[in-house]
Amino acid sequence: MSMVVVLLLLLPCALLCLFSCAAAQLTPDFYDKSCPTLIPTVRAVLQKAIAKEPRIAASLLRLHFHDCFVNGCDASLLLDDTPSFTGEKGAVPNNRSARGFRVVDRAKFAVEKSCPGVVSCADILAILARESVVLLDGPSWAVQLGRRDSTTANRSAANNEIPPPNSTLANLLSKFQAKGLNAQELVALSGSHTIGLSRCVSFRDRLYNFSGSGRPDSTLQPHFWEDLRAKCPRFHGNNVVAPLDAHTPLHFDNLYYHNLHASVGLLNSDQVLYSTSGPNSTRAIVTRYRDDQGAFFADFASAMVKMGNISPLTGTSGQIRKKCRRVN
Ligand code: HEM
Ligand SMILES: *[C@@H]1O[C@H](CO)[C@@H](O)[C@H](O)[C@H]1NC(C)=O
Ligand SMILES: *[C@@H]1O[C@H](CO)[C@@H](O)[C@H](O)[C@H]1NC(C)=O
Ligand SMILES: *[C@@H]1O[C@H](CO)[C@@H](O)[C@H](O)[C@H]1NC(C)=O
Ligand SMILES: *[C@@H]1O[C@H](CO)[C@@H](O)[C@H](O)[C@H]1NC(C)=O
Ligand SMILES: *[C@@H]1O[C@H](CO)[C@@H](O)[C@H](O)[C@H]1NC(C)=O
Repeated sequence: MSMVVVLLLLLPCALLCLFSCAAAQLTPDFYDKSCPTLIPTVRAVLQKAIAKEPRIAASLLRLHFHDCFVNGCDASLLLDDTPSFTGEKGAVPNNRSARGFRVVDRAKFAVEKSCPGVVSCADILAILARESVVLLDGPSWAVQLGRRDSTTANRSAANNEIPPPNSTLANLLSKFQAKGLNAQELVALSGSHTIGLSRCVSFRDRLYNFSGSGRPDSTLQPHFWEDLRAKCPRFHGNNVVAPLDAHTPLHFDNLYYHNLHASVGLLNSDQVLYSTSGPNSTRAIVTRYRDDQGAFFADFASAMVKMGNISPLTGTSGQIRKKCRRVN
């Protein structure tokens, strides 16, 4: 009799769980009890790294993006090649441009000292991304935690799913849509290019032979074009770098959107957010963020939380890696 009552009482709970527990649940307080020193520990490592090289903040923000777009935010990007899989570090969007891995290792090492075996590498990346934006005077957000780490990586997914710098607007929209991110989130997240640098190889086509036309990209502002040609020669210098935001590459602000209005966006994928017209045009969103840094900051913060929520491993899926570069 009492058994039946208990079962009847449990039934609604079980049904509720079917709906709410099925969705991955990340929460900002995931490690509050198991690792209360987590955030200050990661922040201290980052502050040291930024003091040595401020650009590292940009590089770390980018790592979180490149992790999340490939099988979700599961630290797959951090795995070195093994005999059983080729890692994502060698994929075209990462090879010779993804950087900051040693800072991630240092953060993980420091966290392992105080809370061994508790905090995932995927969460450390998410924290480093948030702290990097904050330390360059950008917005903050409640970083969601509770991700676990993958046991494998997928180089071809990294090649296919991370958009290349010569993407058209339609390409960008569809690659972001594939990850559940809309046009507004595309434009807000691209505002990350208010910090950091890009190699010449990522924008050279625009300077000399845009889309195989034999001519430069006609949207390039003439003086900007001249400056870039001086930096980025046609036949060599692949790894020479130029700032994504020429004015304040170490300050997280909305000048990126001013640049797009002035036709001085560095990558094709930047400039098309303003210059492409038609039914999919995102020009009005660019203008809104140019005119209202507060709106940009608010939308950037929510979009980062949403990007950080792409297919996380939770519960008993995956593992908590001991070292971010290899599976346990
Ligand atoms: C919209 C599609 C995007 C494309 C096509 C793109 C492409 C690129 C490229 C080509 C570079 C330079 C790499 C090199 O050195 O050659 C770069 C740098 C960077 N990207 Fe993106 N990106 C996109 C979106 C994002 C997003 C969503 C974020 C972060 C949320 C981000 C953050 C960064 C940062 C911070 C840098 C500078 C990194 C450094 O200085 O080390 N990007 N991106
Ligand atoms: C990475 O780039 C370097 C230099 O361009 C090249 O030699 C190497 O083969 C590339 N790695 C992969 C995995 O493609
Ligand atoms: C890797 O990703 C590609 C999609 O780009 C997919 O077709 C393939 O099945 C994936 N491989 C593994 C081993 O999951
Ligand atoms: C971008 O460049 C790659 C490699 O050079 C090329 O295969 C691709 O077609 C280009 N995409 C666009 C949209 O121009
Ligand atoms: C608009 O973007 C969608 C992807 O979201 C794409 O499928 C469609 O072809 C684009 N339309 C135009 C006119 O570019
Ligand atoms: C521009 O690129 C296209 C294809 O990528 C090539 O066929 C053409 O010869 C190039 N033009 C010049 C002037 O280099």
